[in-house]
Amino acid sequence: MDFDLKGKSAIVTGGASGIGAAICRELAAEGAHILVADLSDETAGAFAETLKREGGQAEAFALDVADPQQVEAMVARATKLWGGLDLAVNNAGIGGSPGPVADYPLDSWKHVIDVNLNGVFYGMKYQIAAMLKRGGGAIVNMSSILGSVGFANAAAYVAAKHALLGLTRTAAVEYGEQAIRVNAIGPAFIDTPLLSANLDTAAMAGLAELHPVNRLGRPEEVAALTVFLLSGRAKFITGSYHLVDGGYTAR
Ligand code: NAI
Repeated sequence: MDFDLKGKSAIVTGGASGIGAAICRELAAEGAHILVADLSDETAGAFAETLKREGGQAEAFALDVADPQQVEAMVARATKLWGGLDLAVNNAGIGGSPGPVADYPLDSWKHVIDVNLNGVFYGMKYQIAAMLKRGGGAIVNMSSILGSVGFANAAAYVAAKHALLGLTRTAAVEYGEQAIRVNAIGPAFIDTPLLSANLDTAAMAGLAELHPVNRLGRPEEVAALTVFLLSGRAKFITGSYHLVDGGYTAR
């Protein structure tokens, strides 16, 4: 299938691990030029090198998406490397501390909102400015099934992922005429370090059972939808929220 992504300039935040890494791989396979943006130079750099060894075009950028100046610098870097910006995936995210609302730690609330919500706003603010100069573009924001349903002990995460949908829809309305499309994706539980670093095998198996397909999702399954939404195949799709959830929200 021709996704019309050859030579396109792309940024993927949280691109060195899990879902972001799978998206980078798929975009590289389609011929896009990728800025792998992640917290550390080593992990982003090592993954960009892996993509290059596999025949892709990739460079690394280390940043904290919660810092607007670093996000602006990330967009400037991609623009300088490849003469502009066509595609962006605001994917970096963290889980935060567990706990019910009345006990939810204030510092974790602030940190999760800073990374999972403010980081996406900063991303879009600078990405859209760059895309306007290019005459168009496409953005995917990584929400979650928890953008539309609640989940106990995860108030900050759930609130941020819900808010991302409003942000996505508003930007889509504002920039549709200028050929910038903005969509959000809602994965269910995906087998990545975000889960495996925090849960034991029994807890992972318990999560798997929540999906009618009776398993966790795979990063590649989220990447496939992301690349489709970024591509020329999805030109009439904007401002919407797309689930890849093994039936989780169908119950
Ligand atoms: P992951 O932990 O494997 O990867 C996240 C990446 O983001 C890491 O490389 C990490 O270093 C980076 N990152 C974290 N904070 C950052 C910051 N402040 N600045 C720059 N980079 C930062 O996680 P995973 O599972 O691949 O998650 C990717 C996105 O998908 C997140 O937004 C997450 O909320 C979302 N998601 C994940 C689900 C899952 O079950 N794994 C389900 C639904 C959504």
